Amino acid sequence: MSVPRCQDVEDRTEADSSGTTRHDLEVSRRTFLQSATALGAGLATGASAQAPAAAASATARTKSLTLNINGTDHTVAVDTRTSLLDTLRDHLDMTGSKKGCDHGQCGACTVLVNGRRVNSCLLLAVSAEGDPITTIEGLAHGEELSPIQAAFLEYDAYQCGYCTPGQICSATALLDEMKAKQASVVSFEDCTQEAPKLSDHEIRERMSGNICRCGAYPNIVQAVRAVARQVNL
Ligand code: FES
Ligand code: FES
Repeated sequence: MSVPRCQDVEDRTEADSSGTTRHDLEVSRRTFLQSATALGAGLATGASAQAPAAAASATARTKSLTLNINGTDHTVAVDTRTSLLDTLRDHLDMTGSKKGCDHGQCGACTVLVNGRRVNSCLLLAVSAEGDPITTIEGLAHGEELSPIQAAFLEYDAYQCGYCTPGQICSATALLDEMKAKQASVVSFEDCTQEAPKLSDHEIRERMSGNICRCGAYPNIVQAVRAVARQVNL
């Protein structure tokens, strides 16, 4: 009768209810590690094979656009997923429009497209092709500031200035909206929707998409009101 070796006894002793022994477990652990190593090598090989594919796909997404900005055509090749704000700042060196939140919440990136204010961080550059775009760099005529720019200076309507380009673009469009008698929520509250009046309440409502972290709001309202009076609004 053969005497079982100690290890065999141990293995048998440690067999679980399904009959699996330590030896079985060690074999499967070794097999797992071998498989994992092979899989890792495969993934690494796959990753390097995917790199050219990714580059090709990025090239496929790059489009040459011609954007009319401040009256001048600019041709630029960008990934079609690039926002107008990033195109202005990173590809065309027009850094006047600021990036605050990049989520459409602060208004620092406001520019005018077709005369309407938009958050350029939310607008794809490709969708602005063919439309006239006005940025803060295009509001002055040479050395002559636009009326809103001059009023912001006169009424000290800024502190750090980071929100100011967006505030000025917004206020510029606000005046045009008032001239076109476009109503706001406040116009309906005040029952003046047929011919909105530019009260301070209206100014605050219409500028509410532009956040100023320095809290220059009272002076901003004064500056907008002053220009509105000059043009009989
Ligand atoms: S950066 Fe566009 S809204 Fe804030
Ligand atoms: S002036 Fe500083 S955020 Fe408006």
